[in-house]
Amino acid sequence: MLTSRRNFVAASAAVVTTQGLTQAVQVPDTLRLGLIGPGGMGGNHLRALVARKDVRVRWICEVDRDRLAQAAKVVGGAGPEPKTTRDMRNVFEDKEVDAVLIATPDHWHTPAAILALDAGKHVYVEKPCSHNIREGRLLVEAAKRSGKVLQVGTQSRSAPHLQEAIAKLKEGAIGEVLCAKAWNSQKRGSIGKTKPTAPPANLDFEMWQGPAPRGPYRTNMLPSIWRWWKAYGCGDIGNDGVHELDIALWGLGVTKHPDRIQGAGGKYFFDDDQQFADQMYCTYEWNPTGGPLKRKMLVFEQRDWSPYVQEGHENGNAWYGTKGMMTLGKGSGWTLFGERNKKVLERSGKVDIKPHHDNFFESIRGKAKPNASAEVGHLSAAIAHLGNISVGLGRTLEFDALAERFPKDKEADALLRRSYEPGHWAAPRDV
Ligand SMILES: NC(=O)c1ccc[n+]([C@@H]2O[C@H](COP(=O)([O-])OP(=O)(O)OC[C@H]3O[C@@H](n4cnc5c(N)ncnc54)[C@H](O)[C@@H]3O)[C@@H](O)[C@H]2O)c1
Repeated sequence: MLTSRRNFVAASAAVVTTQGLTQAVQVPDTLRLGLIGPGGMGGNHLRALVARKDVRVRWICEVDRDRLAQAAKVVGGAGPEPKTTRDMRNVFEDKEVDAVLIATPDHWHTPAAILALDAGKHVYVEKPCSHNIREGRLLVEAAKRSGKVLQVGTQSRSAPHLQEAIAKLKEGAIGEVLCAKAWNSQKRGSIGKTKPTAPPANLDFEMWQGPAPRGPYRTNMLPSIWRWWKAYGCGDIGNDGVHELDIALWGLGVTKHPDRIQGAGGKYFFDDDQQFADQMYCTYEWNPTGGPLKRKMLVFEQRDWSPYVQEGHENGNAWYGTKGMMTLGKGSGWTLFGERNKKVLERSGKVDIKPHHDNFFESIRGKAKPNASAEVGHLSAAIAHLGNISVGLGRTLEFDALAERFPKDKEADALLRRSYEPGHWAAPRDV
């Protein structure tokens, strides 16, 4: 079906130039979307999208037959039936698709996003936007080269109460902010120990693995717990942790990677197949040798076996300044303390996906810039990846933040990227 000219708003703008500005292009009144991966989080996106008048879900792409049918029903219940596929290339090839939303497991994020950007689609990709640091850099480059909008699924960036908190920090409400803290504490379940088995009949496991090297299916990979396997996920620091890390960086006001990472931790609690630490402490330092630039530090704590609160929040943030402190739980609110620990201001609020969707669609229409751009998403995902590398190796690492390399540590350097299934169509070029 060809879209009529009347469906376009001639003056709308949507192409992000290299300066981050927009230039005039035609955008349809109703944006046509492809949703890739309507699982747990993809299902949340889908319900929010079908409730909107300014978008239409044209494609559902899903490799699980049952989930595909279920998601198509959600769309069909609210409007025209979507097209369905197990192969995302069908979505990218469709000229009638303006944007895609990618909510697959992490190992697909950057490969799918790059393919979509190169096909001329605007992209909303779930966090962490990359599986490793090299992929994050390739994603930033692809977003720039395409001139399309890229939004990362760290929806806190569009929450008004959090935007106000960060504005306060930037105004100097607690003086100079030299240290930020982020923590992720909750009681996760064991994934047990399994042996390879045949994948379920409803799942196209070949397509699910995509560009990842071929490995066996195990019953404790799905649903959702692929995130504890290194070939597919990034552990909890790259899962829930990345939300708090992203907020911490935002308030700390740093716009480059840290120069030094010290991680400690491991599996303290779970005796199962999980391949990531369930307990970790990471400190990240900027300008650790001082000089004309300010030294800054971020401290991250993770306990996946202990749901006890800190500053009132299971998952939260704190910033320490020369004249006060702020504590924050993204789902409840924040408190600002001035000198002598005097409570100065309090706000409550929740994080919702809708304002982040609004910001994405407004950016496509040239009325806003993405609150969680490729650069922002890359920085936050990289913090998680750097933490995993340092904890995994059990040593302090000196990072060349501009070159994105560990110049003095070959073993660490090798962990900045991953290998791919040889010749796979979705493996990024120049990895
Ligand atoms: N922003 C948030 O607050 C938030 C919350 C939860 C999860 N997430 C992110 O969302 C993503 C999905 O997490 P989840 O918990 O929903 O996992 P999930 O396993 O429930 O969902 C992923 C879905 O993608 C499908 N899929 C896999 N490969 C595919 C392919 N090649 N093409 C199409 N579909 C494919 C799977 O079958 C599954 O249905 C993760 O990256 C996670 O970090 C974000």
